[in-house]
Amino acid sequence: MSEAPIVLVTGSAGRIGRAATAELQARGYRVRGFDCVPTPDLKDSMVGNLTDEEAVRRAVEGVHTVIHLAATPDDDDFLTQLLPNNLLGVYHVLESARLAGARRLILASSGQVVWWQRQRGPLPIKGDDPPTPRGWYAVAKVFLEAAGRMCADSHGMSVIAVRLGWCPRSREHVEELAALDWAKDVYLSPGDAGRFFACAVEAPAETRFDVVYATSLPVRRAMYDLDTAKQLLGFEPRDRWPQGVEEYSAPPT
Ligand SMILES: NC(=O)c1ccc[n+]([C@@H]2O[C@H](COP(=O)([O-])OP(=O)(O)OC[C@H]3O[C@@H](n4cnc5c(N)ncnc54)[C@H](O)[C@@H]3O)[C@@H](O)[C@H]2O)c1
Repeated sequence: MSEAPIVLVTGSAGRIGRAATAELQARGYRVRGFDCVPTPDLKDSMVGNLTDEEAVRRAVEGVHTVIHLAATPDDDDFLTQLLPNNLLGVYHVLESARLAGARRLILASSGQVVWWQRQRGPLPIKGDDPPTPRGWYAVAKVFLEAAGRMCADSHGMSVIAVRLGWCPRSREHVEELAALDWAKDVYLSPGDAGRFFACAVEAPAETRFDVVYATSLPVRRAMYDLDTAKQLLGFEPRDRWPQGVEEYSAPPT
């Protein structure tokens, strides 16, 4: 499938990046990875940093769609982590993608953007409910979403921002998730994460700007509106907690 458009996945070596690249490759896409550490099992992958504008420019060359995942994935020191990785990195990726003529951006936001509505309701939370960010990590995701909206409105790009559920990165995350009732309603299995990003790549070209949620099937009740991702992108989760945790090296017994 040498004529297939190239999909760039930043953060390709990470938890969700590996799930997305595996699903896209299985569907026949040409996938290019970009990460500050090597990406296993991906031939076309670059090692580079989001803070290096030239490296990002090289990564987006000839790319049709950018899935932007690379970031510090939770609250951390603002000046040394969030500022370079989650703010400057967003600027470099989105601006380079625009200049290179990429048509679609798929941006990894977080449920932490609507954290306080999750505590206070009303539920399920919709994509156009106002942000109620938890901390500076979530504030940086609000910036990411606003930057995506600007690329759609001012530059005619097709942009999908996804507020992702909780896809554990470690055995410790799995244990933490297992101990929290609410967390099982926002659990996102690696399989559903991969399928979500493939659906977003395959969404109709006329998609302009949407904020959607991606989780696996809730155990008790839906915290987020999952109907919009189904209607717009055809994404329907298949897993429910704890399906998918067997992918971790030592799953709970
Ligand atoms: N996993 C979750 O539960 C979850 C939930 C909501 C949102 N997200 C978002 O999804 C995305 C992926 O998260 P993940 O769980 O796969 O995290 P991860 O830490 O497993 O992957 C992130 C990847 O980005 C790379 N990276 C970080 N800074 C970089 C930089 N400056 N330059 C180049 N590469 C860099 C890391 O090396 C890593 O491989 C992140 O944007 C995160 O904020 C994740």
